[in-house]
Amino acid sequence: MTIELLRASEIERMRAAGRAAAETLRAVGAQLRAGMRTADIDRLVREDTAARGGRPSQLGYKGFPAAVCVSRNAVVCHGIPSESERLVAGDIVNVDVTTELDGMHGDTSETFAIGAVSPDAWRVLEVARRARDAGVSVVRDGARLGDIGAAIVEVCAREGCGVVEEYGGHGIGRRMHLAPHVSHVGVRGQGLRLRAGMAITIEPMVTLGRPGVRLLDDGWTVVTRDGSPTAQFEHTVVVTKTGCEVTTRLV
Ligand code: MF3
Ligand code: CO
Ligand code: CO
Repeated sequence: MTIELLRASEIERMRAAGRAAAETLRAVGAQLRAGMRTADIDRLVREDTAARGGRPSQLGYKGFPAAVCVSRNAVVCHGIPSESERLVAGDIVNVDVTTELDGMHGDTSETFAIGAVSPDAWRVLEVARRARDAGVSVVRDGARLGDIGAAIVEVCAREGCGVVEEYGGHGIGRRMHLAPHVSHVGVRGQGLRLRAGMAITIEPMVTLGRPGVRLLDDGWTVVTRDGSPTAQFEHTVVVTKTGCEVTTRLV
């Protein structure tokens, strides 16, 4: 498993791809409304991505049939947008945008609340955001992959939430998915050592109930086994000597 270190010119292109993905996510997130079809979100992502000169990396990836993953409530990840699925007040919905721009990829997601949501739904959403940010905060040259998972589990365990183990973050760069696999559960001090110039995603899937998941017959949609709500937030980061640069954070 070789992990490529990005050169300055490539990091510059990662910044542009990350910014494009983040801007699309922000623009689409601002348009979410109860009553909208999840296929409408797919159309918005295609239009906005193209308007920024990018291509949706997920479209056709291993046969994925849409430009964006839209994952509502008990859907953990990889939800397929549909003409027959509508957003309803009280939903929490993750929108996961990946953009290829100038040969590099930016991958980012957020979970949005539609109208007023239950205290439990709000809690899992906020815990997922904090878990993602805790993972990002320990990244620096010399840190270990296990440090990331440990930081995420610490936040979630304290709040009584679960962390999904079957899916994780990943290396990213010239392709959307590269080595290494970035587990969201880990032991501090263990695992691969991060080096300046590596690019990875951190994207914990957090459950209100038990962390077990199940894959639906469509081959993509991942749901919680117990049907409990789940939330996810994702950033793409480039490791630096002193920390990391979050390419998908808008300032
Ligand atoms: N953007 C997703 C991730 O965070 C990729 C999903 S693969 C797809 O890694 F094919 F479902 F789009
Ligand atoms: Co990702
Ligand atoms: Co993603």
